[in-house]
Amino acid sequence: MSREATSDVNIKGYLIPKGWRVLIWARAIHMNPEYYPNPEEFNPSRWNEYTTKAGTFLPFGAGSRLCPGADLTKLEMTIDAYE
Ligand code: HEM
Repeated sequence: MSREATSDVNIKGYLIPKGWRVLIWARAIHMNPEYYPNPEEFNPSRWNEYTTKAGTFLPFGAGSRLCPGADLTKLEMTIDAYE
């Protein structure tokens, strides 16, 4: 996901000048052990009773550009599981 700064932005001391593009690297967030312990482990049970922290789960993006196919995708996955 990439975004363009429409004005100078200061985030935690880092200046992102107007016109620069910023890449949101969702994989780095999803593989961060601070949010997902032992992220390399295949462990579907990690989602049991798991409450995501805002901004740490972005498979379909977020905000006004959230993937409009998200619900369709999840529905299709559910159907495949029971065929
Ligand atoms: C596993 C399946 C899918 C994944 C992981 C996925 C992921 C994403 C992500 C991360 C974005 C946000 C991009 C951004 O913010 O720059 C996005 C946008 C979008 N997705 Fe998906 N997507 C999936 C399936 C689909 C399907 C099935 C459709 C349509 C039937 C779809 C249509 C779109 C469209 C049109 C956008 C652009 C929305 C906008 O810019 O306003 N996606 N998708």
